[in-house]
Amino acid sequence: MSFQSEIVSWYLKNKRDLPWRGTTDPYVIWLSEIILQQTRVEQGKPYFLKFLENYPTVKDFANAAEEQVLKLWQGLGYYSRGRNMLYTAKHIAEHYGGQFPKSYSELVKLKGVGSYTAAAISSFSSNERQAVVDGNVYRVLARYFGIEEPINSNTGQKLFADLAKELIADQEPSVYNQAIMEFGALQCKPKSPLCIECPVQLGCEAFKLKKVDQLPVKLKK
Ligand code: ADE
Repeated sequence: MSFQSEIVSWYLKNKRDLPWRGTTDPYVIWLSEIILQQTRVEQGKPYFLKFLENYPTVKDFANAAEEQVLKLWQGLGYYSRGRNMLYTAKHIAEHYGGQFPKSYSELVKLKGVGSYTAAAISSFSSNERQAVVDGNVYRVLARYFGIEEPINSNTGQKLFADLAKELIADQEPSVYNQAIMEFGALQCKPKSPLCIECPVQLGCEAFKLKKVDQLPVKLKK
């Protein structure tokens, strides 16, 4: 089995039941991704549910009072992110007729939405072939392929983005993206990764060279 098939097969057996999984609503995915930029999954869950309960659609969000949004945001830090969310919701209500965009090219234009978030929303909502590259993905790829190029150098960013794009080419984008992130979060963890019971141990360069704890490389800037 290929690396990708192993990762997907692992995911189907081991994935967590998270409240934002199983939706294809780009607004709901956007909510979850912005909150998860700010906090860990377990801490993010109640915030996500609270926001969704108060603002079931982007139109509801757009009509919210800023002080209410910031009150719901309390505890997540960086209030500018909460304010940006309201700004984006209003922008979508005004310029997109309340239809949250689904395509990568429209999503990256939104305030607070970078290439990772645009790839996540477009692939999860409409299966667009856009590879997500977050910290989990950097770690899994650096270790499995034995890549010593720093993840935060210009060369490194290009190398990882190209590799991620190649790997997703004949995969179901939504499932594969979630699978590799989940694999990084639960199996190929930053500390004490579960190499002994890893489905891709045999092909893993870092495991072979006993470099698992040295990868990925990140430059201090
Ligand atoms: N971290 C960022 N996005 C995530 C997602 N969709 N599921 C789990 N963890 C995440």
